Amino acid sequence: MVISPINEAPDGAEARSATRDGPDCDLTVTQDLPTRNSTGDARPPSHVLVTGGAGYIGSHMALALLEREPSTRVTVVDNLLRGHRGAIDALVKVGGARLRFEQIDLLDTARLTAALVADPPDAVLHFAALTSVPESVEKPLDYFRTNLGGGLSLLEAMRAAGVSRLVFSSTAATYGEPAPESMPITESTPQRPINPYGLAKLQFEDVLRAQCAAPRQPKPLAAVALRYFNVAGADALCRVGEDHRPETHLVPIALEVALGKRPHLTIFGDDYPTRDGTCIRDYVHVSDLVDAHLAALGALEPGAFRAWNIGIGRGHSVREVVESVRRVTGHAIPTVMGTRRAGDPAALFADPSAIARDLGWTARFTTLDAMVESAWRWMQANPQGYR
Ligand SMILES: NC(=O)c1ccc[n+]([C@@H]2O[C@H](COP(=O)([O-])OP(=O)(O)OC[C@H]3O[C@@H](n4cnc5c(N)ncnc54)[C@H](O)[C@@H]3O)[C@@H](O)[C@H]2O)c1
Repeated sequence: MVISPINEAPDGAEARSATRDGPDCDLTVTQDLPTRNSTGDARPPSHVLVTGGAGYIGSHMALALLEREPSTRVTVVDNLLRGHRGAIDALVKVGGARLRFEQIDLLDTARLTAALVADPPDAVLHFAALTSVPESVEKPLDYFRTNLGGGLSLLEAMRAAGVSRLVFSSTAATYGEPAPESMPITESTPQRPINPYGLAKLQFEDVLRAQCAAPRQPKPLAAVALRYFNVAGADALCRVGEDHRPETHLVPIALEVALGKRPHLTIFGDDYPTRDGTCIRDYVHVSDLVDAHLAALGALEPGAFRAWNIGIGRGHSVREVVESVRRVTGHAIPTVMGTRRAGDPAALFADPSAIARDLGWTARFTTLDAMVESAWRWMQANPQGYR
């Protein structure tokens, strides 16, 4: 699949008219060229289904598809439980009639099937999920129902509609707490999740693996699982961004302190065996993640299940994130020391060399400051998020 560079299309006037107004959105910014897929087929997808496209990552994905490939249609399926009507509005501004929104719960197999049969997509990018680890510990049934059951329902609808290509948002949480000597994490690091969120994601990977191996007419399933580490940043033109409620991710929480929406940031433990005592995580920019999906779409093979890690291959500690937010925003960012949280491994970072070797994908945003700047622009332009 060949996807046009984002700054070739649409034309500047259309890009500007599509931009959310905001004091700190730089209208002259053009996003980095996407990584081109060296192994994909030559046909652009004519119709892609994005589940969870009203959420953080799914909306960036839908935006990229609409913007980079002028003939591609995108259908977003989202129940708006955690997603935003404002994200859909932003996508419609860019894609016009090429963007169709279906407010459907993935668990409603009958409606989902009817939508897919009526207008079958060439491929499905499956982002819809519940995504909070602590919430998954409190409400495991909800997480298995949505993240496993929702996936099963989607596969049934795809089978009924004759759709056989799927890219799935998996997670580093499927690896659990690998020993420090197992860093960086490769795709063959044992997957031993330690919470219902990671477990349900791993179980759906297993379903995909089995389903790809099963005979099916006219074609067996082709599936890729991308195991993301920590995602940060926003669209360069601030049309879509991160707005989780409640927010549980470190970068937006630190930026909310900068905005004055929170008095301080709590650091959960400074006695870990790391360089400054705080936990280390691998942050990847959402635009790089989108590029990885475009590469994965081109690498889908009937009957094959593949999985790749998506990270930059380096970790940043909580203190380093706070320092970056101080540098970028110019605000003090008071911190309060808390105790360790159960199930927080000291360090988690990816070995992303497999996807670099197989698909030619590497992250373009490699510094924390660049990711924080991008998230800060969105937040300044949209201090209340999509509200
Ligand atoms: N954000 C990260 O750092 C991160 C890291 C690893 C993996 N992931 C995975 O990436 C995907 C997207 O994450 P995100 O941060 O954009 O989350 P998000 O909460 O912003 O988006 C998820 C979307 O799915 C929708 N949804 C939830 N349940 C649904 C259902 N039953 N039917 C239809 N729609 C439903 C929500 O309304 C929301 O719009 C998830 O699968 C998540 O597990 C995210």
